Amino acid sequence: MKIWSLIAAPVALVLAGVGAWLALRDAPQVAMDPTTPVMPATVDIAQGKALYAQSCASCHGANLEGQPDWETPDAEGRLPAPPHNETGHTWHHPDRVLFQYTKLGGQDALALQGVEFDSGMPAFGDVLTDREIWNVLAYIQSTWPAQERATQADRTAADMANGGT
Ligand code: HEC
Repeated sequence: MKIWSLIAAPVALVLAGVGAWLALRDAPQVAMDPTTPVMPATVDIAQGKALYAQSCASCHGANLEGQPDWETPDAEGRLPAPPHNETGHTWHHPDRVLFQYTKLGGQDALALQGVEFDSGMPAFGDVLTDREIWNVLAYIQSTWPAQERATQADRTAADMANGGT
């Protein structure tokens, strides 16, 4: 009896250590500015439109129409690029999520939310400045009908009231 309790304590300690190590190893290693990204008060939609044509149109379509069958995963299980017009779901997301998705890429942006997902959306953090990313997003938003714009603005306000989590 005694000998078992002597052995059990160190074994439990070792197991706890391994568990902690595994949890740390699997935690997403994403560096992100801790402040919630917020759309600047003034944006340059013309620049955003030019940058969209240059950086996004090859996948998301020259007219924001997305790739064909964008809701069906390909053979590797990856989703095609969705439309950014009102037929897609870009307008379902608050500004913070759109910004993080564009700056960090789909994989790291979803990892921030604890979701593991093999995303075909590349990171633009090394290609575009934060302000340029906001201008592209402002251009995309400028193409939405009033209803979608209002819904997305509400979601952004709710997200910010929540501290951006
Ligand atoms: C190499 C192709 C490619 C390029 C270039 C690209 N994207 Fe994407 N993007 C994707 C794919 C594929 C997805 C869908 C997969 C996913 O959701 O992770 C996606 C998803 C997104 C989403 C999430 C939309 C939603 O409703 O969930 C946003 C926002 C986005 N892209 C913005 C941009 C912006 C802005 C640019 C240009 C600066 C851009 N993308 C350039 C491939 C691309």
